[in-house]
Amino acid sequence: RKNTAIVLAAGQGKRMNSKVQKQFLELGGKPLLYYSLKCFQDSGMIRDIILVTGAESVPFCKEEIVEKYGLTKVTKVIPGGKERYDSVYEGLLSCENSDFVLIHDGARPFITEEIIRRGIQGVEKTGACVIGMPSKDTVKIADTQGYVAETPDRSTVWTIQTPQIFEYRLIREAHEKIRCRDMSAITDDAMVVEQETGVKVALVEGSYKNIKITTPEDLDIAEIFLKALEKMAGI
Ligand code: CTP
Ligand code: MG
Repeated sequence: RKNTAIVLAAGQGKRMNSKVQKQFLELGGKPLLYYSLKCFQDSGMIRDIILVTGAESVPFCKEEIVEKYGLTKVTKVIPGGKERYDSVYEGLLSCENSDFVLIHDGARPFITEEIIRRGIQGVEKTGACVIGMPSKDTVKIADTQGYVAETPDRSTVWTIQTPQIFEYRLIREAHEKIRCRDMSAITDDAMVVEQETGVKVALVEGSYKNIKITTPEDLDIAEIFLKALEKMAGI
């Protein structure tokens, strides 16, 4: 199988409120973005990696991440778009001859080989698979006035992570269709498939460690996770 990882790093990181965009912040002495790229680089299940970043960050990514750390599977570093789904679309346009695509947030450094394996197993079922975990917190749906409208049964609630994995044709065609419509409520890749196709999306367990670095406290947690991983690896 020709499996391509599309790693997204073209966001502004507004909620992080830092000078440097969060994907380039230092974690254990390396840019945060390095860690997920390295996991895909080392995985036998991945053929190539498309890195999507801001137009102004393309040279930095090529020189200071891809070349510096020998990430030879990164065949393209391309500029993304305004919204996350625009960046995904640019990525999809650059991997025409892939069987499966794994769309991953560059802001999630703790993806593992095991998660990739489970995800690829999951996508074989219907052609669409998302990684997530059962929600630990009770979730409430709010009304517009700031009151509770509804409480979904927690045992049915999952919080969704990445990678999200699709048959290339399926996600490409779903994106082509949805681009003609209002996409303002689209927050993940599976929503595109859910809204444009009848294909069922498989839910597969990732890990509670596969966090997205979004706000400053996430960085503290990430440092702790990284130290624990290094200890385990005897570094
Ligand atoms: N992303 C992207 N292109 C965009 C927006 C987001 O490639 N136009 C990427 C981010 O770089 C990140 C991932 O999508 O790796 C998840 O998005 P999010 O956590 O929302 O990151 P940002 O959009 O950068 O952060 P914020 O929403 O706080 O501004
Ligand atoms: Mg965002």
